[in-house]
Amino acid sequence: MMDLELKDKVALVTGASTGIGLSICKELAQSGVHLIMVARTQPRLEQAAHEIGEQYQVKTLPIAGDVANAEFPAQAVKQALVHFPSIDLLVNNAGRAHSGTLLTTSDEDWDSMTAIKFSAMRRFCREIVPLMEKNQWGRIVNISSVGGIYANPPLTVSHALSAAINNLTRSLALDVASMGILVNAIGVGAVATDNWANNMLPKVRANRAELHDKTDEEIMTILGKEKTPVGHFGRPEDIAAIAAFLLSNRNQFVTGHTIEASGGADRFI
Ligand SMILES: NC(=O)c1ccc[n+]([C@@H]2O[C@H](COP(=O)([O-])OP(=O)(O)OC[C@H]3O[C@@H](n4cnc5c(N)ncnc54)[C@H](OP(=O)(O)O)[C@@H]3O)[C@@H](O)[C@H]2O)c1
Repeated sequence: MMDLELKDKVALVTGASTGIGLSICKELAQSGVHLIMVARTQPRLEQAAHEIGEQYQVKTLPIAGDVANAEFPAQAVKQALVHFPSIDLLVNNAGRAHSGTLLTTSDEDWDSMTAIKFSAMRRFCREIVPLMEKNQWGRIVNISSVGGIYANPPLTVSHALSAAINNLTRSLALDVASMGILVNAIGVGAVATDNWANNMLPKVRANRAELHDKTDEEIMTILGKEKTPVGHFGRPEDIAAIAAFLLSNRNQFVTGHTIEASGGADRFI
């Protein structure tokens, strides 16, 4: 295993209780990183934090809340600083996919998606960058979608926000590069998580009669082979491995970049 040179650093990860965020937490914990874990559903979050703390012998602090609430990022950081001296790593991951074109997405859904994916990221960065600046060291990873690069109309709002995230990532990266802070995005392709099962699989089943009676796993295997040049659907660990490098002290020279992590695919539905 590559030494990430992160022992006893502190990370705040949003959307940490399951899927990609949970996998990133485990990858960091393996390298001795202490974790502030954020998600809405308290029991699931507390369980995940407890299990990671036990398994990897790191400190874990679950903070339950909705990142879409404008006051929450500042409150969460304040609470975290009661327990930890600073925050060295930030992973803005909370979110979900939303199906709809520009014509079929309501204002309410557009605003809610913007609050969860984009505004929360902006606010967490604004709270945490000054802490990193004091230490002249920090790493930030923002999770977007590969659709931020290759737009696909059935997922218009998710993809437009991903493009905004990628652009914000570069802008912030250039702004803070001289402070020892590196900021990157990962443009994620289709990854087998609850989010994909709940928000995307129903659409795939509805559009393809031959898949109606297949299990979720069978459909993901079929789509992985059909749509992905590498031949398999994404796994949360595939994304966590990339995040770990970008967040590590081994990364000294990659900043402002969006890594396309989709097995070579540009769309899945
Ligand atoms: N899976 C994919 O194929 C894929 C593709 C492209 C991009 N992405 C992006 O990757 C990120 C992670 O997705 P995932 O697939 O790993 O999803 P997931 O398995 O559904 O996990 C989402 C995590 O975010 C938390 N969360 C959701 N909304 C939140 C909110 N408003 N406030 C605080 N926490 C919230 C969830 O917990 P609670 O529900 O308890 O809050 C959970 O911990 C998302 O931003 C998603 O858009 C995923």
